[in-house]
Order: sequence, then structure tokens, then C-alpha cells
Amino acid sequence: AKYVIVDKETCIACGACASTAPDIFDYDEEGLSESILDNNQGITPVPEDFEDDLEDAEEGCPTESIIVALDAFQKALKSS
Ligand code: F3S
Repeated sequence: AKYVIVDKETCIACGACASTAPDIFDYDEEGLSESILDNNQGITPVPEDFEDDLEDAEEGCPTESIIVALDAFQKALKSS
């Protein structure tokens, strides 16, 4: 399984990820992206159906703020 979080320290709110993978990403009140799967905690496996979108979003992020791992994250980098 894959897990994902957005590093909000480096996200520049470019918007690419949520248009590429709207089932995974949306914006917080500051316009920064976050995973809507689990409030950007990286503890909920990305559904297999969304893995292609996830890969596209990861590659498309200009600041490499989309962090993908094969294990659940221990703690979120920064949840809002
Ligand atoms: Fe931010 Fe990258 Fe998405 S800059 S809005 S995480 S594509």
C-alpha cells in the first residue's frame, strides 16, 4: 500500500495536485494542499484505484511537496 502526506512547509499552493488527483488532495483554509484521505496524517492507505493519480500528482508537484511512502507515517509533518 501507499501512503501520502503533503509537506505544507514547501507547498506553494500551485494547485496541480488537486486537479490531477481530486480524490486525494484538496486545500486547507490557507490554500495549501493536504490529503483528504486522513487529514494529511499519512496513515490511511491510498486506495488502489487512485494510485495512478497519486503518481502523476507526485511527479507534477513543482516543489516535491507530495511525500509518498510504503509505510504509514509516524506523524504528520504538519497538519493544519
Ligand atoms: Fe502544493 Fe505541490 Fe500540490 S505545490 S498544491 S503540493 S502540486
